[in-house]
Amino acid sequence: MAKIENVGVVGCGLMGHGIVQVAAEAGYQVVVREVDEATLGKGIAKIEKQLARAVEKGKATQEDADAVRARIQGTTDYDALADRDLVIEAITEDLALKLEMWGKVDKIAKPDALFATNTSSLPVIAQAASTSRPGRFLGLHFFNPAQVMKLLEVIRCVTSTEETMSAGLEFGQRLGKLTVATKDKAGFIVNRLLVPYLLDGMRAYEEGVGSISEIDAAMKAGAGHPMGPLTLSDFVGLDTLGSICDVLFDEFRERRFAQPPLLRKMLAAGWYGRKSGMGFYDYSGDQ
Ligand code: CAA
Repeated sequence: MAKIENVGVVGCGLMGHGIVQVAAEAGYQVVVREVDEATLGKGIAKIEKQLARAVEKGKATQEDADAVRARIQGTTDYDALADRDLVIEAITEDLALKLEMWGKVDKIAKPDALFATNTSSLPVIAQAASTSRPGRFLGLHFFNPAQVMKLLEVIRCVTSTEETMSAGLEFGQRLGKLTVATKDKAGFIVNRLLVPYLLDGMRAYEEGVGSISEIDAAMKAGAGHPMGPLTLSDFVGLDTLGSICDVLFDEFRERRFAQPPLLRKMLAAGWYGRKSGMGFYDYSGDQ
Protein backbone atom coordinates (compact mmCIF):
# COMPACT_ATOMS: atom_id res chain seq x y z
CA MET A 1 0.00 0.00 0.00
CA ALA A 2 1.23 3.50 -0.88
CA LYS A 3 2.49 5.57 2.07
CA ILE A 4 0.15 8.25 3.40
CA GLU A 5 1.71 11.57 2.35
CA ASN A 6 -1.40 13.73 2.23
CA VAL A 7 -4.89 13.70 3.71
CA GLY A 8 -8.40 14.71 2.70
CA VAL A 9 -11.12 15.39 5.27
CA VAL A 10 -14.80 15.62 4.36
CA GLY A 11 -16.57 17.89 6.85
CA CYS A 12 -15.09 20.82 8.77
CA GLY A 13 -17.54 20.87 11.70
CA LEU A 14 -17.04 20.01 15.37
CA MET A 15 -14.90 16.91 14.66
CA GLY A 16 -13.69 17.66 11.12
CA HIS A 17 -11.94 20.93 11.94
CA GLY A 18 -10.06 19.27 14.82
CA ILE A 19 -8.97 16.35 12.62
CA VAL A 20 -7.78 18.79 9.94
CA GLN A 21 -5.77 20.72 12.54
CA VAL A 22 -4.05 17.69 14.10
CA ALA A 23 -3.20 16.26 10.66
CA ALA A 24 -1.72 19.60 9.50
CA GLU A 25 0.19 19.93 12.78
CA ALA A 26 1.67 16.48 12.16
CA GLY A 27 3.01 17.75 8.82
CA TYR A 28 0.38 16.43 6.39
CA GLN A 29 -0.92 18.55 3.52
CA VAL A 30 -4.68 18.56 4.13
CA VAL A 31 -7.59 19.31 1.81
CA VAL A 32 -10.89 19.79 3.64
CA ARG A 33 -14.23 19.74 1.84
CA GLU A 34 -17.41 21.38 3.11
CA VAL A 35 -20.85 21.90 1.59
CA ASP A 36 -20.57 25.68 1.16
CA GLU A 37 -18.14 28.56 1.67
CA ALA A 38 -19.87 29.85 4.82
CA THR A 39 -19.65 26.49 6.65
CA LEU A 40 -16.09 25.98 5.45
CA GLY A 41 -15.13 29.49 6.60
CA LYS A 42 -16.52 28.82 10.11
CA GLY A 43 -14.47 25.62 10.48
CA ILE A 44 -11.25 27.19 9.17
CA ALA A 45 -11.79 30.22 11.46
CA LYS A 46 -11.92 27.86 14.47
CA ILE A 47 -8.55 26.37 13.45
CA GLU A 48 -7.04 29.84 12.96
CA LYS A 49 -8.28 30.85 16.43
CA GLN A 50 -6.66 27.77 18.03
CA LEU A 51 -3.40 28.45 16.19
CA ALA A 52 -3.40 32.10 17.31
CA ARG A 53 -4.04 30.96 20.89
CA ALA A 54 -1.10 28.55 20.76
CA VAL A 55 1.15 31.44 19.64
CA GLU A 56 -0.21 33.74 22.40
CA LYS A 57 0.49 31.05 25.01
CA GLY A 58 4.02 30.56 23.68
CA LYS A 59 3.24 26.93 22.72
CA ALA A 60 4.03 27.60 19.05
CA THR A 61 5.95 30.23 17.10
CA GLN A 62 4.14 32.44 14.60
CA GLU A 63 6.21 30.73 11.92
CA ASP A 64 5.01 27.26 13.00
CA ALA A 65 1.38 28.40 13.13
CA ASP A 66 1.68 29.95 9.66
CA ALA A 67 3.21 26.72 8.33
CA VAL A 68 0.33 24.65 9.77
CA ARG A 69 -2.23 27.03 8.26
CA ALA A 70 -0.45 26.90 4.89
CA ARG A 71 -0.79 23.10 4.84
CA ILE A 72 -4.61 23.40 4.97
CA GLN A 73 -6.62 23.98 1.82
CA GLY A 74 -10.39 24.41 2.00
CA THR A 75 -12.72 23.50 -0.85
CA THR A 76 -16.37 22.92 -1.66
CA ASP A 77 -15.41 20.69 -4.58
CA TYR A 78 -15.08 16.90 -4.25
CA ASP A 79 -12.59 16.84 -7.16
CA ALA A 80 -9.97 18.43 -4.90
CA LEU A 81 -9.80 15.06 -3.08
CA ALA A 82 -8.69 13.20 -6.24
CA ASP A 83 -4.98 13.04 -5.30
CA ARG A 84 -5.43 12.18 -1.58
CA ASP A 85 -3.73 9.13 -0.08
CA LEU A 86 -6.21 9.01 2.83
CA VAL A 87 -9.76 10.43 2.93
CA ILE A 88 -11.41 10.75 6.35
CA GLU A 89 -15.17 11.23 6.56
CA ALA A 90 -16.35 13.54 9.39
CA ILE A 91 -19.84 14.56 8.27
CA THR A 92 -23.21 14.28 10.01
CA GLU A 93 -23.88 11.00 11.84
CA ASP A 94 -26.38 9.79 9.25
CA LEU A 95 -25.70 6.63 7.24
CA ALA A 96 -27.64 7.72 4.16
CA LEU A 97 -25.65 10.98 3.93
CA LYS A 98 -22.38 9.13 4.45
CA LEU A 99 -23.19 6.61 1.70
CA GLU A 100 -24.11 9.41 -0.69
CA MET A 101 -20.80 11.13 0.10
CA TRP A 102 -18.71 7.95 -0.41
CA GLY A 103 -20.49 7.39 -3.73
CA LYS A 104 -19.03 10.70 -4.93
CA VAL A 105 -15.58 10.33 -3.37
CA ASP A 106 -15.13 6.73 -4.53
CA LYS A 107 -15.54 7.79 -8.17
CA ILE A 108 -12.79 10.42 -8.11
CA ALA A 109 -10.30 9.10 -5.50
CA LYS A 110 -7.09 7.31 -6.50
CA PRO A 111 -7.63 3.52 -6.75
CA ASP A 112 -5.11 2.89 -3.93
CA ALA A 113 -6.39 5.64 -1.62
CA LEU A 114 -7.38 4.58 1.89
CA PHE A 115 -10.84 5.54 3.18
CA ALA A 116 -11.74 6.08 6.84
CA THR A 117 -14.89 7.01 8.70
CA ASN A 118 -14.95 8.97 11.96
CA THR A 119 -18.36 7.53 12.81
CA SER A 120 -19.11 7.33 16.54
CA SER A 121 -21.38 4.32 16.31
CA LEU A 122 -22.54 3.34 12.82
CA PRO A 123 -21.23 0.03 11.42
CA VAL A 124 -18.04 0.66 9.47
CA ILE A 125 -18.81 -2.26 7.17
CA ALA A 126 -22.00 -0.60 5.91
CA GLN A 127 -19.88 2.24 4.53
CA ALA A 128 -16.95 0.06 3.41
CA ALA A 129 -19.22 -2.26 1.41
CA SER A 130 -20.72 0.68 -0.48
CA THR A 131 -17.34 1.54 -2.02
CA SER A 132 -15.17 -0.19 -4.61
CA ARG A 133 -12.43 -0.69 -1.97
CA PRO A 134 -13.85 -2.47 1.11
CA GLY A 135 -10.37 -3.84 1.90
CA ARG A 136 -8.90 -0.34 2.11
CA PHE A 137 -11.61 0.97 4.44
CA LEU A 138 -11.45 1.33 8.24
CA GLY A 139 -12.74 3.42 11.13
CA LEU A 140 -10.63 6.21 12.65
CA HIS A 141 -12.62 7.46 15.62
CA PHE A 142 -11.38 10.73 17.12
CA PHE A 143 -12.63 12.30 20.36
CA ASN A 144 -13.79 15.85 20.94
CA PRO A 145 -11.75 18.07 21.03
CA ALA A 146 -9.61 16.13 18.55
CA GLN A 147 -6.71 18.55 19.15
CA VAL A 148 -6.57 17.60 22.83
CA MET A 149 -7.95 14.10 23.37
CA LYS A 150 -5.18 11.51 23.26
CA LEU A 151 -7.15 8.51 21.99
CA LEU A 152 -7.76 7.32 18.45
CA GLU A 153 -9.89 4.16 18.08
CA VAL A 154 -8.75 2.31 14.96
CA ILE A 155 -11.61 0.11 13.83
CA ARG A 156 -11.22 -3.02 11.77
CA CYS A 157 -14.32 -4.06 9.87
CA VAL A 158 -14.64 -7.55 8.41
CA THR A 159 -13.20 -6.44 5.08
CA SER A 160 -10.27 -4.28 6.34
CA THR A 161 -6.95 -5.83 5.36
CA GLU A 162 -3.90 -6.13 7.64
CA GLU A 163 -2.16 -3.48 5.54
CA THR A 164 -5.10 -1.10 6.00
CA MET A 165 -5.02 -1.57 9.78
CA SER A 166 -1.24 -1.04 9.88
CA ALA A 167 -1.57 2.14 7.81
CA GLY A 168 -4.34 3.43 10.12
CA LEU A 169 -2.34 2.68 13.28
CA GLU A 170 0.79 4.28 11.82
CA PHE A 171 -1.18 7.38 10.81
CA GLY A 172 -2.61 7.73 14.34
CA GLN A 173 0.83 7.37 15.86
CA ARG A 174 2.21 10.08 13.56
CA LEU A 175 -0.58 12.35 14.87
CA GLY A 176 0.74 11.67 18.38
CA LYS A 177 -2.39 9.74 19.40
CA LEU A 178 -2.66 6.68 21.59
CA THR A 179 -4.08 4.19 19.10
CA VAL A 180 -6.32 1.37 20.26
CA ALA A 181 -7.43 -1.20 17.71
CA THR A 182 -11.02 -2.32 18.14
CA LYS A 183 -13.73 -4.31 16.41
CA ASP A 184 -16.57 -2.97 14.29
CA LYS A 185 -19.13 -3.41 17.06
CA ALA A 186 -21.61 -0.56 17.68
CA GLY A 187 -20.10 2.08 20.00
CA PHE A 188 -16.65 0.47 19.75
CA ILE A 189 -15.00 0.75 23.20
CA VAL A 190 -15.51 4.28 24.46
CA ASN A 191 -19.08 5.05 23.43
CA ARG A 192 -20.30 1.62 24.50
CA LEU A 193 -19.21 2.53 28.04
CA LEU A 194 -19.58 6.32 27.98
CA VAL A 195 -23.05 6.67 26.44
CA PRO A 196 -24.97 4.65 29.11
CA TYR A 197 -23.17 6.72 31.75
CA LEU A 198 -24.23 10.02 30.13
CA LEU A 199 -27.81 8.78 29.78
CA ASP A 200 -27.81 7.70 33.43
CA GLY A 201 -26.74 11.23 34.35
CA MET A 202 -29.89 12.48 32.58
CA ARG A 203 -32.07 9.86 34.30
CA ALA A 204 -30.63 10.81 37.68
CA TYR A 205 -31.66 14.40 36.98
CA GLU A 206 -35.14 13.30 35.79
CA GLU A 207 -35.55 11.32 39.01
CA GLY A 208 -34.56 14.30 41.14
CA VAL A 209 -31.39 12.77 42.56
CA GLY A 210 -29.71 16.17 42.19
CA SER A 211 -29.85 19.38 40.19
CA ILE A 212 -27.97 19.68 36.88
CA SER A 213 -25.05 21.47 38.50
CA GLU A 214 -25.03 19.16 41.54
CA ILE A 215 -24.83 16.03 39.39
CA ASP A 216 -22.00 17.53 37.35
CA ALA A 217 -20.12 18.84 40.39
CA ALA A 218 -20.46 15.46 42.15
CA MET A 219 -18.97 13.49 39.23
CA LYS A 220 -16.14 15.98 38.78
CA ALA A 221 -15.15 16.04 42.44
CA GLY A 222 -16.15 12.49 43.32
CA ALA A 223 -14.87 10.58 40.31
CA GLY A 224 -12.17 12.92 38.99
CA HIS A 225 -13.87 13.49 35.62
CA PRO A 226 -12.88 16.70 33.78
CA MET A 227 -16.56 17.44 33.02
CA GLY A 228 -19.78 16.21 34.64
CA PRO A 229 -22.13 14.03 32.51
CA LEU A 230 -24.58 16.81 31.64
CA THR A 231 -21.84 19.29 30.66
CA LEU A 232 -20.21 16.54 28.60
CA SER A 233 -23.52 15.69 26.89
CA ASP A 234 -23.91 19.35 25.88
CA PHE A 235 -20.28 19.33 24.71
CA VAL A 236 -20.68 16.20 22.55
CA GLY A 237 -23.93 17.61 21.13
CA LEU A 238 -27.33 16.29 22.21
CA ASP A 239 -28.29 15.59 18.58
CA THR A 240 -25.13 13.52 18.05
CA LEU A 241 -25.69 11.74 21.34
CA GLY A 242 -29.34 11.05 20.34
CA SER A 243 -28.18 9.49 17.05
CA ILE A 244 -25.54 7.40 18.82
CA CYS A 245 -28.02 6.02 21.37
CA ASP A 246 -30.50 5.18 18.63
CA VAL A 247 -27.83 3.11 16.84
CA LEU A 248 -26.76 1.41 20.09
CA PHE A 249 -30.35 0.71 21.13
CA ASP A 250 -31.12 -0.72 17.70
CA GLU A 251 -28.11 -3.01 17.95
CA PHE A 252 -28.39 -4.20 21.57
CA ARG A 253 -32.06 -3.56 22.50
CA GLU A 254 -31.03 -2.68 26.05
CA ARG A 255 -32.63 0.05 28.17
CA ARG A 256 -29.26 1.50 29.10
CA PHE A 257 -28.89 2.73 25.50
CA ALA A 258 -32.44 4.13 25.15
CA GLN A 259 -32.97 7.90 24.90
CA PRO A 260 -34.43 9.17 28.20
CA PRO A 261 -37.70 11.11 27.66
CA LEU A 262 -35.95 14.33 28.72
CA LEU A 263 -33.41 14.00 25.91
CA ARG A 264 -36.21 13.45 23.38
CA LYS A 265 -37.97 16.62 24.57
CA MET A 266 -34.79 18.68 24.41
CA LEU A 267 -34.10 17.47 20.86
CA ALA A 268 -37.67 18.28 19.85
CA ALA A 269 -37.09 21.80 21.17
CA GLY A 270 -33.94 22.13 19.02
CA TRP A 271 -31.68 22.19 22.10
CA TYR A 272 -28.54 20.47 20.84
CA GLY A 273 -26.19 21.59 23.61
CA ARG A 274 -23.28 23.96 23.36
CA LYS A 275 -23.33 24.22 19.55
CA SER A 276 -26.97 25.44 19.46
CA GLY A 277 -26.62 27.81 22.43
CA MET A 278 -28.95 25.75 24.67
CA GLY A 279 -28.78 22.36 26.32
CA PHE A 280 -28.62 21.44 29.99
CA TYR A 281 -26.94 24.84 30.30
CA ASP A 282 -27.51 28.15 28.50
CA TYR A 283 -24.60 29.08 26.20
CA SER A 284 -26.35 31.97 24.46
CA GLY A 285 -23.90 34.47 25.95
CA ASP A 286 -20.82 32.51 24.74
CA GLN A 287 -18.61 33.80 21.95
N1 CAA B 1 -8.83 22.91 20.47
C1 CAA B 1 -7.56 22.99 20.86
N2 CAA B 1 -7.18 23.05 22.15
C2 CAA B 1 -8.16 23.04 23.07
C3 CAA B 1 -9.52 22.96 22.74
C4 CAA B 1 -9.84 22.90 21.36
N3 CAA B 1 -11.10 22.82 20.94
N4 CAA B 1 -10.25 22.95 23.89
C5 CAA B 1 -9.37 23.02 24.90
N5 CAA B 1 -8.13 23.06 24.41
C6 CAA B 1 -6.87 23.11 25.17
C7 CAA B 1 -6.72 24.45 25.84
O1 CAA B 1 -6.11 25.38 24.96
C8 CAA B 1 -5.85 24.10 27.02
O2 CAA B 1 -4.48 24.02 26.64
P1 CAA B 1 -3.31 24.41 27.67
O3 CAA B 1 -3.46 23.47 28.85
O4 CAA B 1 -2.07 24.14 26.89
O5 CAA B 1 -3.53 25.82 28.02
C9 CAA B 1 -6.29 22.70 27.41
O6 CAA B 1 -6.93 22.15 26.24
C10 CAA B 1 -7.27 22.71 28.56
O7 CAA B 1 -8.36 23.55 28.19
P2 CAA B 1 -9.06 24.57 29.17
O8 CAA B 1 -8.08 25.05 30.19
O9 CAA B 1 -9.77 25.59 28.33
O10 CAA B 1 -10.23 23.76 29.85
P3 CAA B 1 -10.22 22.39 30.61
O11 CAA B 1 -9.00 22.20 31.44
O12 CAA B 1 -11.55 22.31 31.22
O13 CAA B 1 -10.14 21.30 29.44
C11 CAA B 1 -11.26 19.82 27.99
C12 CAA B 1 -11.08 21.27 28.40
C13 CAA B 1 -9.94 19.28 27.40
C14 CAA B 1 -12.34 19.79 26.92
C15 CAA B 1 -11.64 18.97 29.28
O14 CAA B 1 -12.71 19.58 29.93
C16 CAA B 1 -11.99 17.54 28.95
O15 CAA B 1 -11.12 16.69 28.77
N6 CAA B 1 -13.30 17.25 28.91
C17 CAA B 1 -13.80 15.92 28.57
C18 CAA B 1 -13.85 15.78 27.07
C19 CAA B 1 -14.27 14.42 26.65
O16 CAA B 1 -14.61 13.54 27.42
N7 CAA B 1 -14.29 14.23 25.33
C20 CAA B 1 -14.75 13.01 24.72
C21 CAA B 1 -16.19 13.15 24.36
S1 CAA B 1 -16.82 11.68 23.66
C22 CAA B 1 -16.40 11.77 22.05
O17 CAA B 1 -15.87 12.72 21.54
C23 CAA B 1 -16.73 10.55 21.27
C24 CAA B 1 -17.97 10.54 20.55
O18 CAA B 1 -18.05 9.82 19.58
C25 CAA B 1 -19.16 11.24 21.03
